[in-house]
Amino acid sequence: MVSDTSRWNEKYAAASLAPALRVEPLLDSHQQDIDALPEPRTALDVAAGTCHAAVYLAKRGLHATALDCSAVGLGLGEQLAEREGVAIKTTTADLTVTPLPTGPWSVICCFRYLDRNLFPQMAAGLAPGGLLFYRTFNVHHLNKATAFNPEYVLQPGELARQFSTLDVLSLSDGGDPGKNTSWIAARRPA
Ligand SMILES: C[S@@+](CC[C@H](N)C(=O)[O-])C[C@H]1O[C@@H](n2cnc3c(N)ncnc32)[C@H](O)[C@@H]1O
Repeated sequence: MVSDTSRWNEKYAAASLAPALRVEPLLDSHQQDIDALPEPRTALDVAAGTCHAAVYLAKRGLHATALDCSAVGLGLGEQLAEREGVAIKTTTADLTVTPLPTGPWSVICCFRYLDRNLFPQMAAGLAPGGLLFYRTFNVHHLNKATAFNPEYVLQPGELARQFSTLDVLSLSDGGDPGKNTSWIAARRPA
């Protein structure tokens, strides 16, 4: 069986550097919360791919680490960071066997990747007052993407349950069939 790492390395090897930084709306809509975090501000982009979120956070002045199993994707992310005039740290790791790097992190973000085993680590890895940003596909995605693996979609109400120890800043938790992703922005109580 082809491993996740080989599959994603192959995919990113066929890709080229993105023409522009892709701004994740969930981060952008909370930029004031991010900017108000106390120094030193650190960020972990989980399953970062080509590191757009890490680069966005580095541009806001955070010390950003991008973690992914694909060294090829992270390589594209390093090129993106250089073009955008910032430095990021990259870490290659398979999250099915390696825990998240120890925090505490001012920000942990994760987009379009679902491994429920990571949820407790994400909540625990935040500094007091730190921010979580998470968005991925939910069950409504299966209506159109019929070949998508149902194990990798969130159920309605799941994010609120999984991150019940955090204070919610914004939440869209699968209640609207018109939205094929669920997301949460939340703060660890100080
Ligand atoms: C759909 S992409 C999302 C990338 C990025 N977060 C984004 O939104 O553009 C999923 C990412 O998860 C990474 N990934 C898949 N399995 C992984 C694993 N076991 N450990 C670490 N990263 C993994 C892939 O390499 C890929 O970059």
